[in-house]
Amino acid sequence: MKNIFNLLMPLITIPAIALSQPDKERAMNKLIIHADLGKHTISRHIYGQFSEHLGRGVYEGIWVGKNSDIPNTRGLRNDVVQALKKINVPNLRWPGGCFADEYHWRDGIETPADRPKMINTHWGGVVEDNSFGTHEFLDLCKQLGTEPYITANVGSGTVEEMSDWVEYLTFDGTSPMADLRRQNGQEDAWRIKYWGVGNENWGCGGNMRPEYYADLYNRFATYCRNYGDNKLYKIAGGSYSDNYNWTEVLMKNIKPHLMDGLSLHYYTINKDWNDKRSATEFDEASYFDVVRKALQLDKYLTAHSTIMDRYDPEKKIGLVVDEWGAWHAEEPGTKRGFLYQQNTLRDAFVAALSLNIFHQHAERVRMANIAQTINVLQAVILTQKEKMILTPTYHVFDMYQVHQDALLLPYDLKSEEYVLGEDKIDALHASGSLAKDGKVNISLMNVHATKSIEIECELRGARAKKITGRILTASSLNAHNTFDNPNNVTAAEFNGVTMSNGMLQIKIPAKSIVVIRVERE
Ligand code: AHR
Repeated sequence: MKNIFNLLMPLITIPAIALSQPDKERAMNKLIIHADLGKHTISRHIYGQFSEHLGRGVYEGIWVGKNSDIPNTRGLRNDVVQALKKINVPNLRWPGGCFADEYHWRDGIETPADRPKMINTHWGGVVEDNSFGTHEFLDLCKQLGTEPYITANVGSGTVEEMSDWVEYLTFDGTSPMADLRRQNGQEDAWRIKYWGVGNENWGCGGNMRPEYYADLYNRFATYCRNYGDNKLYKIAGGSYSDNYNWTEVLMKNIKPHLMDGLSLHYYTINKDWNDKRSATEFDEASYFDVVRKALQLDKYLTAHSTIMDRYDPEKKIGLVVDEWGAWHAEEPGTKRGFLYQQNTLRDAFVAALSLNIFHQHAERVRMANIAQTINVLQAVILTQKEKMILTPTYHVFDMYQVHQDALLLPYDLKSEEYVLGEDKIDALHASGSLAKDGKVNISLMNVHATKSIEIECELRGARAKKITGRILTASSLNAHNTFDNPNNVTAAEFNGVTMSNGMLQIKIPAKSIVVIRVERE
């Protein structure tokens, strides 16, 4: 799609007029959004979140308990719930991650004081008191208006245990599990759609061979029943980055009627990860490296989708990227194994680029979950006791929510390059969609660290009437929000668009992310 200009260039006769430098740049950067050619919907579920029992993700981040001084509703902190509601979280994955394959759901359903304690061996070896369990998680989903996505235990669990959990959650009649649920205070069955059968079963979820996991998956998934009209969307524990064999073997061996989705994990890991520096301390080369790695997501999605296409040409099975995001070294001075990292403008680019890429794969990618919502990895929210801040990544999710369930619009983009040393990448990246309210959304970013760029944008098949926009940028790439300065990086109104003859001229400052909404005539 993006290369159409390269193909056409040899055919275009360029008049022999000397162009001034700004004119040359304008001629070079061009975006055409095909407003009348949309085919696929960008599922809102690619804007999903992930909250694992890891570090301060659940405890303190979400759950403070009913007796806390931090304002809460039934133990769930109000500030966090309000902030998450504002970005329209479509689904929330829980309880892990690696934790999912050692979690035993029955430990988290009785009166809290009676719940057994366990060691969270994956994450810091801390005591997990199970005070946040099934009922609390589903109350959180209710308060957020989000769909639960539960990942159940294959690695250290049994078929019976998983099957019972589904019955406990979703069966409305009389049965041992439904009766137990009622005893624990929940009369009506919940509606649960998204159901993960294990997590990273090639690694922390049991170190299995794909052939073995595929057999186990068939067995576990068989006994995850659909009760009444509750229909589970069963998701197999998938691959990571370039482990294509895992995807191939699962697609070949899992019975298609048992699998609705296949997961994939992709983390953008910073090349300086081993230096153990704060995620706020990096130079331009490190930033460039992170942006380039974030862009590689496209290559991985294409390769895994190509394998899936061979077995599932009708694209019935969704690719579910249920863990993605920037993974930096843990913040110095914080507890090891808690994966707490600060979040800068650099991370906002990882989020915006990844979301743009998911949009382009909308036909196969039906769901994605950033890792992780609060206080862990690329969090959208950070907390410190009663204080809460929204990260630059949060603001991307806020600006980008206009794309949720919108129609993906094809585009052609010609961008100048951002060159650093021997390396180069496109400076401009885009995505377009047509929202249900009739507006065209254009997200456009300039990843160049120092250069402001002008671009001409044509809306083909529509004529722009009115434009509004928002921008996320800052004075430096490592700008971030702190508990003392919570609004250092925040979205603002964008006034860099002018319109003439139906064409938009957009001036995008260096290192900035812009979302433009176009009202059509
Ligand atoms: O998100 C942190 C961890 O990364 C998850 O628990 C695991 O699935 C992945 O390796």
